[in-house]
Amino acid sequence: MKKILIIGASILQLPMIRRAKELGFRVGVIDYNPEAIGVSYADDFFEVSTMDVDGVVKAAREYRPDGVATLATDMPMRGVAAACEALGLSGVSPETAFMATDKGAMIEAFERAGVPHPQFKIAHTKEEFDRVKADVVYPAIMKPTDQSGSRGVALVNSLAELEASYDYSNGESRGGGVVIEEFMSGPEVSVEIVALSENDIHILAVTDKLTTGAPHFVEMGHSQPSRLGAETVAAIEDVAKRAVKAVGIKRGPAHVEIIVTKDGPKLVELGARMGGDCITTHLVPLSTGIDMVEATMRCAFGENPDLTPKFNKGAAVRYFDVPVGTIKSIANVEEAKAIPGVRQISFVKSVGERMTEIHGSGDRLGFVIAQAENADEAIKVCEKAMAAVDVVVE
Ligand SMILES: Nc1ncnc2c1ncn2[C@@H]1O[C@H](COP(=O)(O)OP(=O)(O)O)[C@@H](O)[C@H]1O
Ligand SMILES: [Mg+2]
Repeated sequence: MKKILIIGASILQLPMIRRAKELGFRVGVIDYNPEAIGVSYADDFFEVSTMDVDGVVKAAREYRPDGVATLATDMPMRGVAAACEALGLSGVSPETAFMATDKGAMIEAFERAGVPHPQFKIAHTKEEFDRVKADVVYPAIMKPTDQSGSRGVALVNSLAELEASYDYSNGESRGGGVVIEEFMSGPEVSVEIVALSENDIHILAVTDKLTTGAPHFVEMGHSQPSRLGAETVAAIEDVAKRAVKAVGIKRGPAHVEIIVTKDGPKLVELGARMGGDCITTHLVPLSTGIDMVEATMRCAFGENPDLTPKFNKGAAVRYFDVPVGTIKSIANVEEAKAIPGVRQISFVKSVGERMTEIHGSGDRLGFVIAQAENADEAIKVCEKAMAAVDVVVE
């Protein structure tokens, strides 16, 4: 029986934990929280923080899995890579995991490799910030080097705004400071990839993104396949593959975020892991028939998974956009679920909880997932279902 060690046992990793059990694997999970939702689905549990690289390696040495993997979050990749190296398993190197989780090291790798990226300044400390701030060109984006879910991301239009936002962005950093980038305008996409070797990089899907826009850019929806047209999609795919090579991902999944500027596609960031927000767990299978969760685990075992598309459909997820206030009621969900094409409606907050302004993906109420003949139709189904659900916030 194959043994997989999954780093993280939260709702984000649950689809992998459940799929691993369905496939008959023995499943160990690591999480700082023994109450994490995925723990009860797993066979074995290690109470270790997913950020504690040495702790993860120690648990992996004890468990002796055939593969180590995670899903949807960046920081656990450092532990995954260190454990793979310690046990001689298939995965990315610790150097690659660092470049894929530190936005400063990442954009420097893109620059070295000639991968199109925005102009940037890195400030690890307040002194460095004070040194580089005079050279920033506006509008600019400031973001923590090592956060996710759009936390600490700010759009700034002047030196005064840059200085005023420093604490907001740097305060979200785990210790790495901030990256200040030229603001790129244009449609935003992500590219879902599985690499089987350095020169065998498979693109599974290109996803169009809807965000809250300025100032915080929280993702409010995703759809596949991209509607940007064959020529643009080909340029996006080329840049995404070069980005994956630039940080040295030779095996396993990658999630590459790109903005299509008037000068062509440029990098926002990438992860050496599967994308979150239901993109890889739900949309990839609904639009292509490829099981990316299984493929990632098979890669971790050193196997070559089946990555051929089974069909070509449209798939979309849309997040509810509700006013600030306390959730009084959520009704008509069953009626909305009955709309043809709706595949799932889920809420992450419940009645009585407060809805704040959306500054990060954790602030969203819930989502609708749909499948249809094409992306436009799938989005329409999501919108119809969201309109049918009756959410009262006061
Ligand atoms: N240089 C940029 N120009 C324009 N928008 C950007 C830029 N950098 C980030 N963004 C926006 O902010 C979002 C979050 O930034 P990102 O670097 O992906 O951080 P996170 O790790 O929080 O996802 C992006 O999805 C994009 O919408
Ligand atoms: Mg991002």
